[in-house]
Amino acid sequence: MDRLTLRRPDDWHLHLRDDAMMRAVLPETTRNFARAIVMPNLVPPVVTARDAAEYRDRILAAKPTGSKFRPLMTLYLTEETDVRDLRAAADIGLITAVKLYPAGATTNSASGVRDFSKVRRVLENMAQIGLPLLVHGEVTDPEIDIFDREATFITRVLDPIRRDIPGLRVVMEHVTTRDAVDYVREGGADIAATITTHHLVINRNHILAGGIRPHYYCLPVAKREEHRHALVKAATSGDASFFLGTDSAPHLDTAKLQPCGCAGCFTATNTLSILAEVFEAAGALDRLEAFASLNGPAFYRLPPNEDRIVMEKGAPVAYPSSIATEEGPVTVFDPGMPLHWRVAE
Ligand code: DOR
Ligand code: ZN
Repeated sequence: MDRLTLRRPDDWHLHLRDDAMMRAVLPETTRNFARAIVMPNLVPPVVTARDAAEYRDRILAAKPTGSKFRPLMTLYLTEETDVRDLRAAADIGLITAVKLYPAGATTNSASGVRDFSKVRRVLENMAQIGLPLLVHGEVTDPEIDIFDREATFITRVLDPIRRDIPGLRVVMEHVTTRDAVDYVREGGADIAATITTHHLVINRNHILAGGIRPHYYCLPVAKREEHRHALVKAATSGDASFFLGTDSAPHLDTAKLQPCGCAGCFTATNTLSILAEVFEAAGALDRLEAFASLNGPAFYRLPPNEDRIVMEKGAPVAYPSSIATEEGPVTVFDPGMPLHWRVAE
């Protein structure tokens, strides 16, 4: 097979940032994706309906002319989130989901949730109206080893919340462990998971063996090979509980290459080529459309995109090693293997 037609894909977890960075990275997503769930972890975060409307307008103003790209907005859940404001934003279709960051779990998560009892009423309202909660599933307890923080989050935080608030629809974002894959697969219709492109490709050796590679550092951090294997199996299985959320998270190289560097892999540019390679290697090219274009809209109760993209296989594709911004370069994720599939013009 050297040609593949897919419904146009969507990205169910994306960081677009703002200002100069947004102008630089937005075309990398709008080129091939129809929609994206836009993360609200700006500084300061997107916490009110008004913040979301203003951010949406800045994205629409920055998108390339002629692009039909639709940003799907999210609110950043805080202990002060106002139920009426949130419900009004959901009612008019301004927001598609709400993001939960445990306070301190990752980049710009300082305003996140510390005491889950303080957001119970918001979560109950979300369950009533079917508004998905997107969770960054890592505990922040310094006693817990960083490689165990996702698995511990499931038992300590996520499962108790779901038992407490039946009907709450949850997307466990960027899962990195077999534990999370198993939990989601067996969790029924109200839970799904996004899987990133980079977690299908790298394990923790890529970050640490033979020298430290800051461009492979993201959160949740990549785990052992057996976990990567479970992610590939889930993504390529066709199971509707799993769909693409790239978590493409641009940082300036000057912010990554530091004694204390930022977490995030920037994959918007070459994501579809990498995915085609991964799915082909797994003998599952025929399931790429489910993962990238069908399962996400089904969970979000949105129609899949009507138009199609064509991917072609040929000589290895040369992608830029970085994207230029007005403030300096952002390194593009290096999958460490030749990429033979490209989206046809
Ligand atoms: O690696 C990450 N980068 N993980 C996150 O959860 C946040 C993201 C970012 O915003 O840079
Ligand atoms: Zn993210």
